[in-house]
Amino acid sequence: MAASREQFGSRLGFVLAAAGSAVGIGNLVGFPVNAAKNGGGAFLLMYAIFVFTICVPVMMAELAAGRNSAKGPLGAYASLTNNNKFWSIAGWLSTITPFMIAVFYTVITVWIFEYLYNALTGDLAELAKPETFGSFINGGNIFIHLAVVIGIVNLILVGGVKEGIERSAKILMPALFLMLIGMVIFVLTQENAMAGVKFYLIPDFSKLTGPVVSGALGQAFFSLSLGMGILITYGSYMDKQSSIASSAKMVAIADTSVAFFAGLMILPAIFSFNPQTDPTELSDSSVSLIFSFLPKIFLALQGSIGYFGASVVASVFFLLVFFAALTSLVSIIEVPAASLVDQKGYSRKKSLLVLNLGMILFTIACTASFGMVGWLTEFVVYSGANKSLFDVVYDVFYDTILPLNGLLICLFVIYRWQKHNLDAELETGDDGFKGSFLERYMHFSLGTFIPVILALIFINTVAIKFF
Ligand code: PFF
Repeated sequence: MAASREQFGSRLGFVLAAAGSAVGIGNLVGFPVNAAKNGGGAFLLMYAIFVFTICVPVMMAELAAGRNSAKGPLGAYASLTNNNKFWSIAGWLSTITPFMIAVFYTVITVWIFEYLYNALTGDLAELAKPETFGSFINGGNIFIHLAVVIGIVNLILVGGVKEGIERSAKILMPALFLMLIGMVIFVLTQENAMAGVKFYLIPDFSKLTGPVVSGALGQAFFSLSLGMGILITYGSYMDKQSSIASSAKMVAIADTSVAFFAGLMILPAIFSFNPQTDPTELSDSSVSLIFSFLPKIFLALQGSIGYFGASVVASVFFLLVFFAALTSLVSIIEVPAASLVDQKGYSRKKSLLVLNLGMILFTIACTASFGMVGWLTEFVVYSGANKSLFDVVYDVFYDTILPLNGLLICLFVIYRWQKHNLDAELETGDDGFKGSFLERYMHFSLGTFIPVILALIFINTVAIKFF
């Protein structure tokens, strides 16, 4: 008999850890830009509808499969189907995907750390130069900063579920929230900020075209960390007294609130910096917003609040994004780490060691694919373009396999594991669930339109990206 599985110490601990996973670069930067370009309040409304009608049921399905099997995705799919070959492949997909996403998310987290480091040392003029980003991502320091980021993540993970993941979330998440609120208050008191607020919140329903709608769903799905095996793994550490439904709703509310406040921080800041801003011209990419646009705003702030004040604001911003990225990274690396513990019987330390060797190799290769190593920079050609290794990892795992994993978990809980088992798990620790509207809605949505929508997104992405 294996030693009993570690669990989160409290429901609040679970909610903070899962919210830590959910709140990431996607909320803090991806959401505001998307909302600004695509109809403001109209986008926000549609996003919130997707979160609660599509994402929360998928999240509950993942948590239920994890808690019932007491395993990460690899073990969960295998043990709940008596090692069925097809479903074991789904388990593998949900284990390899987080590994690869962790690789590319680590690359971006290291860049954030580089900016944080420079903001703390006060060199905002350097950060705001157009050539800085290119020289940072190809500079030798990047490997030192990579070691620091991987070191911090592992320091948290080696502590285990309660003393590592939960304890760090209990510190980092409230700190993140306070910094975010502080920044929102600061930004709203700047001149012209209200123009940004208006732009952000006044709905423009004419912008809601097909691609915008599917982009909003993709954003919500990604933002709640679905399809990455994370919630199956975190579910396996949940106690049987907690209600899965109310925990999932709390995570969704926390995640959506952070996205909302991030919009209230970023858009008014942009308008206050340049009242003539046309947000439809903002770049699509979160990366260029964080690393090229915002540093210019921080530098301009020196004119109004002085050198020291501007450095504080820039440092708080990058620290906020760094904390968000860190808690997301912790959650995603826990997935393959838990699988090694479950399947191979490794200790937590040994499994982290093995995993890190692989991750460091891939992360260095992806880092080098921005120009340091020619063939990694032009790794392969598809869709008529030269793709770097980083692009390939992003296109394949992030954009394509995530919706496929989501589709598989829906089909799995309803048609293979079956509704009565799903219900029994969701009723555990939740007296009100049996016979509720939510129970009927879960059966209907997960068995019909949610998998159809995810299948369409998957097919569409494959067609657009690879043909
Ligand atoms: N919810 C995260 C975000 O919005 O950034 C998604 C995520 C990405 C979680 C990468 C974990 C991760 F490693």
